Amino acid sequence: MIKNRIGVIGSINTDIVCETDKLPKIGETVMGNKFLISFGGKGANEAVACARLGASTNLLGCVGDDMFSKNAIANLQQEGVHITAVKQLKGKQGGIANITVHNGNNQIVVISGANALVDENYINKYANRIKECSIVGCQFETPIEALVLASDICVKNGIKFVLNPSPIKKYPKKLFNNASYVIVNEVEIQEVEGYNPQKPFEILEKHANKLILTKGKSGAYYHNGQKLVNVPAINVKVLDTTGAGDTFLGSFMVAINNNFSLFDAVTFANICAGLKTTKLGAQTAMPTLNEVKKYVKKNRINLQINF
Ligand code: RIB
Repeated sequence: MIKNRIGVIGSINTDIVCETDKLPKIGETVMGNKFLISFGGKGANEAVACARLGASTNLLGCVGDDMFSKNAIANLQQEGVHITAVKQLKGKQGGIANITVHNGNNQIVVISGANALVDENYINKYANRIKECSIVGCQFETPIEALVLASDICVKNGIKFVLNPSPIKKYPKKLFNNASYVIVNEVEIQEVEGYNPQKPFEILEKHANKLILTKGKSGAYYHNGQKLVNVPAINVKVLDTTGAGDTFLGSFMVAINNNFSLFDAVTFANICAGLKTTKLGAQTAMPTLNEVKKYVKKNRINLQINF
């Protein structure tokens, strides 16, 4: 294990972003305001979120050999993410996300491309890149069976495993059980076994100190074994929420890896995710450690960041 290294297994995409005041109906054309081609993919986003906060980070994922993939690799290198486990596949196209941003919210269509090849063979081949980490995160834009295998490797090697089941789909219970932390939004929590829509917070008590619910402007919730805890979101003008969840997960792992309490880790993640929403794009908008520290100081938030 390399001291305090973070691992992320997941997708690497290029985001094609249009910002508009009006969403088109089926068959309609509308004029938008801004266009952006930027670096995305939930896996790459999380890895960049970690690296911007100064964490040594391994990314495990696949790209193709098209221009988008080559640029994505160059960007990850520039961000300081360790990419020795990012496999470039000949003749394949890298992942693409078509994103429409409207009033700060987004609609996303993803074409997996090479991300679909992050399979069990791939995980076996790059298992050592997982084993050298102290905490590993994943999401659902790459094949789930491979994530189950990766989570087993984490459990066997005493590595914390963090699950963000996004975009949501059915997944084996083992993946949930293998996780040290599961971070869900209001849609994703509905897939957690035993979720009761009449009592939406009840399930947090069953998975106290493990299951964390993010609720945008209402902040994040978890149960600490004694009571339900709400960690408020920061008050910012939201321009684009794309990648905010990925920023939350990445910064949460950085905080846990630096031995923050769960409350402080969620506070830190809320600040990082909130700052991300003030700018357009996923990775382009993620805060650096200095920006987070400045925000904490300026707003007199009770949080000691000693890394
Ligand atoms: O979570 C945001 C990300 O989802 C985007 O960057 C896009 O690539 C999709 O993967």
